[in-house]
Amino acid sequence: MADNRKTKAADLTEAQAEREITDLTRTLLSAEEAYFGKDAPEIDDAEYDSLKSRLAELEAAFFTLRLPESPIGRVGSPPAEGFGKARHAQAMLSLDNAFDAGDLEDFVSRIRRFLGFDTSEFPGFTAEPKIDGLSLSLTYRDGILEQAATRGDGTIGEVVTANVSTVTGVPLRITDALGFMEIRGEVYMSHDDFHKVNESQREAGGHIFANPRNAAAGSLRQLDSNITRSRPLSFFAHGWGQLDGSLGDDQLSAMQRLSDMGFAVNPEISLCDGIEDMVARFQNIEAKRSTLGYDIDGVVFKVNSLALQRRLGNSSTAPRWAVAAKFPAETAWTSLDSIEIQVGRTGALSPVARLHPVTVGGVVVSNATLHNEDYIAGFDSEGERIRGGRDLRIGDWVQVYRAGDVIPKVADVDLSKRQSGSVPFHFPVTCPVCGSDAIREKGDAVRRCSGGFSCPAQQLERLKHFVSRPVLNIEGLGERVIEQFFEESLLREPADFFTLQARLREQGVQLNTRAGWGEVSEANLFAEIESKRRVAFAKLLFGLGIRHVGEVAAERLARHFGRWERLVACMDEDRTPLEELISIEGIGGKTAEALAHDFQQAATRHAIDRLAAQLDIIPAAQPAAGSGLHSGKTIVFTGTLLKMTRAEAKARAEAMGMRISSSVSAKTDLVVAGEASGSKRKKAEELGVEILTEKDWHRLLEE
Ligand code: IVH
Repeated sequence: MADNRKTKAADLTEAQAEREITDLTRTLLSAEEAYFGKDAPEIDDAEYDSLKSRLAELEAAFFTLRLPESPIGRVGSPPAEGFGKARHAQAMLSLDNAFDAGDLEDFVSRIRRFLGFDTSEFPGFTAEPKIDGLSLSLTYRDGILEQAATRGDGTIGEVVTANVSTVTGVPLRITDALGFMEIRGEVYMSHDDFHKVNESQREAGGHIFANPRNAAAGSLRQLDSNITRSRPLSFFAHGWGQLDGSLGDDQLSAMQRLSDMGFAVNPEISLCDGIEDMVARFQNIEAKRSTLGYDIDGVVFKVNSLALQRRLGNSSTAPRWAVAAKFPAETAWTSLDSIEIQVGRTGALSPVARLHPVTVGGVVVSNATLHNEDYIAGFDSEGERIRGGRDLRIGDWVQVYRAGDVIPKVADVDLSKRQSGSVPFHFPVTCPVCGSDAIREKGDAVRRCSGGFSCPAQQLERLKHFVSRPVLNIEGLGERVIEQFFEESLLREPADFFTLQARLREQGVQLNTRAGWGEVSEANLFAEIESKRRVAFAKLLFGLGIRHVGEVAAERLARHFGRWERLVACMDEDRTPLEELISIEGIGGKTAEALAHDFQQAATRHAIDRLAAQLDIIPAAQPAAGSGLHSGKTIVFTGTLLKMTRAEAKARAEAMGMRISSSVSAKTDLVVAGEASGSKRKKAEELGVEILTEKDWHRLLEE
């Protein structure tokens, strides 16, 4: 190898740099392959690090010479046991769904209402196929692909940079790029490629993939990038995350710009300027579905104007400016072999259909949800008949349907095939796990085990929830492992995850002496647990698995209280905390009661406190830098705002880090009083809370 290593990068000629960059890239890649392929390492770690930092230095000085396969910038090359992780610069959200024309109309009306448009004004929408693949986020710095990451939990994804170099439609180097770009899209496998891959898998005696989506996922998430390279994958860009600058004024021209940069962009994108147009476009894409050559599962509509997209912003899970209109579900008939009752983390008894395995839209289905006892009996939650009132019995011939990734459901039953002597299903009135009474409250469709935290099923489900993907996302702790540890009483409550290693050590127990565990997986598990001690307030609250406290409510509560201690203090106040809780925008009575119940019930509360003592709780997210002037303030909107809808005003306040409350109290900082504001304004005056007119509010926004 050319040894210029002592020469400062800036003093090299371009030709010298090119030679050294090529040599270093080759040496590092071959060293990585030897290392990750578990052959003997070619060079030691220190030498590897020093070569890598030299390459990084050269690439920074001569960035046009960087080779696409360069190992630099891959945040943590995949360790032998898994992928590196990376935080997305901007979270990867999901999409709200629309299942029929009515849902689509609702989506458009919601947008109109939010923006304060009248019915004659129609914000234009783009329409494009919804690709049934895996989302991918690509980051580029100065036009060079720096990192590719899967969606992961939306905040942190798995780094698969080495695996995208051969994905069609992903440019590795862009001449006309923005300084930093996070480009989002979908990786998929075409039908032709899928058949070829399965053919060669069959010949080699390898795994046969059930559908192109699984094949794409299995191929992209390969630790050995040589395998990925041998699998034909493609990519369509459909959007972006963080950008230095802008790609255009509207969605359509931004997509054109991405196409000019070398990204594959779906050729079916078009503009719609009326609801009829949207419905027609949906039908048109659906009609083409079987001829596209790749799987799609719906049509995505996006507000075309990027200025309006910005005004609409996001809810906590999805952008308000886009919707996925889904194709109707796929169905199949099979026999209902048995009905099992599972007990969830909040005690809900959920009936699950065990089915004779059947293929529904390319996926083998053997379980389906039966919702609740009414559903089995042939009624909906309002007591209206469904399926013409036909009940479901064990042994029946039933129709199963499946829409996208949604859990399969039992839709119908064929009475002509009902076995003679079959009997209606008797829904249990005691918990099948702990034997406590299973109670159905008035107005609730669900029967619940009354055993609370003492019910082993509820304990176990809370543990699983706590480490699941949307919560702590602890890898290496799958459901089977938790069940096993639970059976051995190694785990009982969430705090136990964090004391497990110390307790095992005390008892002289090593996991790696057990089947399925090795030294590396044991070390990784405890390192992973350690890394999760620092946890965001909202995540922790959501992770407790309290009824009605989902991700959105947890986020609202966390933003309201800011710090964990403030929430606890509120729960400990003599007077009931309900008043404060329900004053929080979006927190209703049921959520408040469930929260207060769990915090005030001694056994549960002790478990929560033991958990909190193990953790370093990150206060709730404050707004982005530069907009912090009013962050943390509590604001109340009252009366009619003329220039902006209430929804937009609240979203803007939230984006500034304010807490929105629906009632005025001594804790309120600001009241925006629109036209015809009555009692809240009066109360604000009495309490001496600052009152803003609509004009003041717009001035505040401009600040
Ligand atoms: S736009 C904020 N456009 O569908 C997310 N998504 O169900 C905006 N998807 O995670 C996404 N095709 O990965 C968009 N043409 C398309 C898409 C698409 C597939 C995926 C996307 C997202 C998922 C949501």
